[in-house]
Amino acid sequence: MQTSFQAVGVVGAGAMGRGIAQIAAQTGCPVWLFDQQADAVARAQQEVGAQWDRLVEKGRMDAASAQACKQRLHAAGSLDDLAGCDLVIEAVVERLEVKQALFSQLEGIVAADAVLASNTSSLSITAIGAGLRHPQRLAGYHFFNPVPLMKVVEVIAGLRSDSAVCDRLAQFARQMGHTPVQAQDTPGFIVNHAGRGFNTEALRIVSEGICDFATVDRILRDQVGFKLGPFELMDLTGLDVSHPVMEAVYRQYYDEPRYRPTVITAQRLAGHVLGRKTGAGFYRYADGKPELPP
Ligand code: NAI
Repeated sequence: MQTSFQAVGVVGAGAMGRGIAQIAAQTGCPVWLFDQQADAVARAQQEVGAQWDRLVEKGRMDAASAQACKQRLHAAGSLDDLAGCDLVIEAVVERLEVKQALFSQLEGIVAADAVLASNTSSLSITAIGAGLRHPQRLAGYHFFNPVPLMKVVEVIAGLRSDSAVCDRLAQFARQMGHTPVQAQDTPGFIVNHAGRGFNTEALRIVSEGICDFATVDRILRDQVGFKLGPFELMDLTGLDVSHPVMEAVYRQYYDEPRYRPTVITAQRLAGHVLGRKTGAGFYRYADGKPELPP
């Protein structure tokens, strides 16, 4: 398949970066994955490799394709290894100054016409691109967790993004088997704006003592029909990701009371009780399965 990009760089090999690297490699593009943590890329390669093996076992991918995908997923030892990429997608920590500094550094490495994309959940694309020499080449590219299964991606144009860049990203999303949705550069875009009603109100129900969190989950999952309840979802995402998103949307809307985060998630974040990734969040995950705390 002729893809919109010839070589893809992914920065950040956490939950999102590894999923994006997986689906990008499946298009046939070589992918270069970089993380500032020394062993993160090797772990990601191992985990994504195991995903491809599982697809082979289930008969959804042939063994030769899985092998070819593994060979296309390269470990980058430094950002300089991304020099030949015509698309670089960042999925690093949700902090404006970190993303700004990363893209400024990348501008000195990649070609002048390479496209830069941010997987930010809630930060302004216009603000992320503010210090760039070529801000028109930056757009938001917001995937969802787990990336291979959640087949939607928001394509977000900042005030200075080139519409042709957004079109190429949308086309590449389709080539990865995802459905692109155009969103304006507003706090939380579409999904994390709508998600305030889901997460923030659920937290408020619990903080007002209306019922416990497991009851909220059970009703919204089993009766209303969501795949996961809000507390299960926060545990899956991790409060190190979810809480900053709540704060970012609240602040960007000038402290709009509707979006005010609760102390429930702030406390857990401070105590490093983050969700599945730390073995305990709202639920405990002794064997990977959620259990209610005693
Ligand atoms: P994560 O914590 O699993 O992974 C982040 C990775 O980035 C870590 O391995 C870390 O070492 C690396 N990193 C941090 N700063 C770096 C830098 N300057 N250079 C290179 N590597 C760096 O986080 P996750 O969940 O993958 O989220 C990443 C981004 O994706 C965030 O912006 C988040 O808001 C966004 N996002 C997260 C979703 C989720 O459900 N987890 C969903 C959609 C977007």
